[in-house]
Amino acid sequence: MDNLDQIVSEAQVAFAAISDPDALEQAKARFLGKSGQITELLKGLGKLPPEEKKTAGAAINVAKTAVENALNARREAIRKAALEARLAEEALDVTLPGRAEARGGLHPVTRTLERIESLFASIGFEVADGPEIEEDFHNFTALNTPEDHPARSMHDTFYLQNPDGTLAEKVLLRTHTSPIQARYMQAHVAKYGQLEKMPEIRIIAPGRVYRVDSDATHSPMFHQVEGLWVGENVSFADLKGVIADFLKSFFETDDLTVRFRPSFFPFTEPSAEIDVAFMSGALKGRWLEIAGCGMVHPNVLKIAGIDPEKYTGFAFGFGPDRLTMLRYGVNDLRLFFEGDLRFLRQFA
Ligand code: PHE
Repeated sequence: MDNLDQIVSEAQVAFAAISDPDALEQAKARFLGKSGQITELLKGLGKLPPEEKKTAGAAINVAKTAVENALNARREAIRKAALEARLAEEALDVTLPGRAEARGGLHPVTRTLERIESLFASIGFEVADGPEIEEDFHNFTALNTPEDHPARSMHDTFYLQNPDGTLAEKVLLRTHTSPIQARYMQAHVAKYGQLEKMPEIRIIAPGRVYRVDSDATHSPMFHQVEGLWVGENVSFADLKGVIADFLKSFFETDDLTVRFRPSFFPFTEPSAEIDVAFMSGALKGRWLEIAGCGMVHPNVLKIAGIDPEKYTGFAFGFGPDRLTMLRYGVNDLRLFFEGDLRFLRQFA
């Protein structure tokens, strides 16, 4: 049957010329569709005399299979070509430099805070915390800071605004970590106040504080670590011992001198600034101010509900940013807060 061979080769040629899958399915219809050439031939079988039907039917089916094979082969070829094109397009250039996984490290000030916490933990201090948005009461009043004290002036303190733009004078960003003293003492009294002998308070409270100030040694946000020890017979001598031991451990040297210079804070009496001087190294012989401290003022104990006749205490407030600068030899405080990885990576 020449005709059949011709149909098969026509189909093969037609399919081979097509590279679009939809066009291929349309071409298929011409041969195998409802009124396709092969289908028409099969339909015509009925008219043949019975003795010819069998051979003709078999021959048409052979041709049909041949067309179907040509179709399937072409479908497969088109699918493969599409896949290869996509792979080529999405190919990875393995010669490009890789992107290394970024490894985080602790911020130098965080390292200092953790170090301070663990050194004080070793002598029985617990870590306490408080809010950064603080009430006027805890930041000032509970700390024996009268209404007209300069620390309350707009110059130092960030006050919060009400939604209508007016000042919310009773709410501020805490200017120091000392309000944690007030909060902790109040909570402690609420828990143990009725006991004949109140358990000692020994806390360390690190945190962020805020003041309207900015230069090489001042940042509007900085850190403090508050310390508080309240109990029976806690004295200034204890304060001096604790601070001197801490500084020697922190700087890992006995080669330093600590000086307590008389000062004033409304919430301590007497009050002092703590200066340190190293006996060797780059900073040799210079007095560096690193903390404020003093004996907790009787009024502060009273406001918290603690009997100042029975209990005494000392408090101190360190500048851990300053301690970090000294420990690592950094001379501009702002470097700590700019987030420049070239600087920070040196500590990781
Ligand atoms: N809160 C004081 C300051 O910010 C420091 C201080 C803390 C002083 C505790 C005495 C006792 O300057």
